[in-house]
Amino acid sequence: MDGGTAAPVAPAGGSAAAATGAAGPTPPADDPQWWRSAVIYQIYPRSFADGNGDGVGDLAGVRQHLPYLADLGVDAIWFTPWYASPLADGGYDVADYRSIHPAFGDLHEAEALISEALALGIRTIIDIVPNHVSDRHRWFQEALAAGPGSPERERFWFRPGRGVHRDEMPTSWPSNFSGDTWTRTTNADGTPGEWYLHLFSPQQPDLNWNHPDVRREHEDILRFWFDRGVAGVRIDSAALLVKDPALPEIPEHPAAGEHPNQDRDELHEIYRSWRTLADAYPGTRVLVGEIWLPDIERFALYLRPDELHTAFNFDFLARPWDADALRASIDETLAAHAPVHAPSTWVLSNHDVTRAVTRYGREDSSFAFAKKRKGTPTDLALGRRRARAAALLTSALPGSLYIYQGDELGLPEVEDLPDELREDPMHERSGGVDPGRDGCRVPLPWRGTTPPFGFSPEDASAAPWLPQPADWGDLSVQAQQSDPSSMLWLYRQALRIRRAEPALGDGPLTWLASPAGVLAFARGAAFVSVTNLSGAPVALPEHQAILLSSSPLVGGLLPPDSTAWLRTQRPTAGHLTT
Ligand code: GLC
Repeated sequence: MDGGTAAPVAPAGGSAAAATGAAGPTPPADDPQWWRSAVIYQIYPRSFADGNGDGVGDLAGVRQHLPYLADLGVDAIWFTPWYASPLADGGYDVADYRSIHPAFGDLHEAEALISEALALGIRTIIDIVPNHVSDRHRWFQEALAAGPGSPERERFWFRPGRGVHRDEMPTSWPSNFSGDTWTRTTNADGTPGEWYLHLFSPQQPDLNWNHPDVRREHEDILRFWFDRGVAGVRIDSAALLVKDPALPEIPEHPAAGEHPNQDRDELHEIYRSWRTLADAYPGTRVLVGEIWLPDIERFALYLRPDELHTAFNFDFLARPWDADALRASIDETLAAHAPVHAPSTWVLSNHDVTRAVTRYGREDSSFAFAKKRKGTPTDLALGRRRARAAALLTSALPGSLYIYQGDELGLPEVEDLPDELREDPMHERSGGVDPGRDGCRVPLPWRGTTPPFGFSPEDASAAPWLPQPADWGDLSVQAQQSDPSSMLWLYRQALRIRRAEPALGDGPLTWLASPAGVLAFARGAAFVSVTNLSGAPVALPEHQAILLSSSPLVGGLLPPDSTAWLRTQRPTAGHLTT
């Protein structure tokens, strides 16, 4: 580019433009490759919509709003855990995998939901939490009752403590939440007993994956849900399941596969057997890993053709709003996925991290658990502008896309929740230093100008389980759906174009020459995405039409913190025109 003028658009690897016509309401039901380009909407059931008026979201609420999701244009929904659970960690402490939490509904409703969604062209993905169970799970209760040395305890990690009095933890592994990873039990006679391992909270004892019962049980759980029509599973903490049975301390610089509780080589054999199980079902049932690993090559090993289908790409959301950092993340991600022929995924936020609008409004817009602190100065207008640009950028990248509920409304993190209402164990276990994750889990605003903003019905008997900010009326679905400048409108348009555009989703990407601070790439021969992260307006490459832009052009230039999607050749029958 010359003074902000784009270089000519380079052809992008000759990807054929199959004629698809305009966006259809329903994705093809029998496409075995659906997951390679899918748009997946994450539902946090407690906070999506409350059908029965008890202030807690439920499956009835989701069923009522399935048309909303179809209209938004998503291909699948992923539910964070919906099972029976004491909710010590928002449901990631599962007491019974084969029943639905009574506050959410029952199994019959889950089955109805899966079919109703499918009738609208939406597949259902559920969450499987294999690393740990709830301390109320039958197995753990049996293990406590059976006492030291019993076979029931072998399904977990029970160990005597160290030291003469056995009062020191068996290892000093750090917790993924703050605090300890071992809790001491009390024997039947009241004396202090063995310790048990929990990488998360004490209410989430880790399972022993060397035990055949644990493996068998999880394969049964997969079958239970695949038999009920789920299209896939999101595997929680997928790189943590296996531990070194010798329980050594963590080396200062562990070599690949040497960490005692992360990324152990034995994990691959487990996922190969899950893949065989999934592949035996008709339709493509997908395995999606939640894998936080700094080594992207080790990460990609989980995506070999006989293991998981995809894994969340957290690297991108951990990067700051900076062109070089994001471009490096995109390049490294695509390069790591190519050898295993897996599509990458793009994720701007989820139920564990600060909402994108808030994160991008901060001076340090990268994400790290350790950096979550109360009272960080935030420019929400800037954050919203960047989140809009990021939504178009990620929607145009190769692979599948995840949207966390409420991001399509541009909801910010709710930072002023009263401490006594915070439920996330991260808050309490950090001694209140970390605000925890409640701020991204506040119930959605659907309509009206006062809480509960249609989250619960008019005659609700209780207020939403977490309070909604009084000014969320402007962010409600109702307020946004007829406003062309809204975030919801932008997402709907983007997903509509994405579905109709043959070159989007899985496939090749070609970078275009661009000035510093600008990310410009072509998808196919006729589509270009340009994101301006520089501080000044830039000229767009030569184009036939602007398909969509995250902020209005100013004097024909793309302003800072904006993305534009361009039609760069005369439209053919296979391209959406605007
Ligand atoms: C995953 C979940 C998170 C949960 C943790 C323990 O990271 O996304 O919400 O707290 O696992 O299950």
